[in-house]
Amino acid sequence: MPSRASRAAPAAPEAVLSSENRAVKRLRQLAKKREPGLTLIEGPRVVAEAAARGVRLELLALRKGSESSIPAERVIELAPRVFSALSQTVSPQGVLAIGAVREFSVPEALAAARAAGWPLLVLDGVQDPGNVGTICRSAVAAGAPAIAVLGGADPFSAKAVRASAGAVFGLGVARGTWAELATVRGLGATPRGGADIRRLDLGGVDVLALGSEAHGLSNPRLGPVTIPMQPGAESLNVAAAAAVLLFELRRRLS
Ligand SMILES: C[S@@+](CC[C@H](N)C(=O)[O-])C[C@H]1O[C@@H](n2cnc3c(N)ncnc32)[C@H](O)[C@@H]1O
Repeated sequence: MPSRASRAAPAAPEAVLSSENRAVKRLRQLAKKREPGLTLIEGPRVVAEAAARGVRLELLALRKGSESSIPAERVIELAPRVFSALSQTVSPQGVLAIGAVREFSVPEALAAARAAGWPLLVLDGVQDPGNVGTICRSAVAAGAPAIAVLGGADPFSAKAVRASAGAVFGLGVARGTWAELATVRGLGATPRGGADIRRLDLGGVDVLALGSEAHGLSNPRLGPVTIPMQPGAESLNVAAAAAVLLFELRRRLS
């Protein structure tokens, strides 16, 4: 979720040629280690999506020759070699931004889910930022209001943000631990042996958790729930499982 809507008018870019410029150093620092409340967003579409969802852009960095009318507090134009050194993608598209995000607490995310009549989607140690971002994208598409990420990949890392196509900014996103959800009634998605999701009564369910790629769920208190698969299939990719579960929830909740 955005920290607040951006109202800044597009500004003329300031030309930056040196990699020792302060704004460049800040972008470099954020690429190495994210600061709470800030995220690095790369690519014209993802940056535009973030702005459309009300993310305040502190800084918009354009590679010389790239154009953008996305509103930001400060716009700089970087020499191509300076831009390339900052980019985290194989084929940089010339647009990079620092966005201010509001990170929810776990109780806030739970309250947001409850208010919308949804269980809180929980990611229990999902390691791959691509999977985390893809799950956020599916969650927004299905109408889920909030997600709690317990360990694993940072949902506001540049890679997860890209994989979400900016949808992560349309969710209430919390990071925390199971201790903060100790009293809730939860379901845990597991590849084998759980109740069939298609027949399960979802009434009173506070949380639906998905486990890590390698180890599955870490919380043994969850009621197991399974997407039935053909004999011989071991498991689904966690993002694929999340999509199936989210749209089953949407079907049942609407
Ligand atoms: C690759 S699987 C984990 C495999 C792990 N070795 C295990 O046995 O749990 C990653 C996550 O996707 C979800 N998942 C995968 N297949 C599923 C299925 N058929 N039904 C429900 N959840 C599934 C579960 O949450 C699981 O923890």
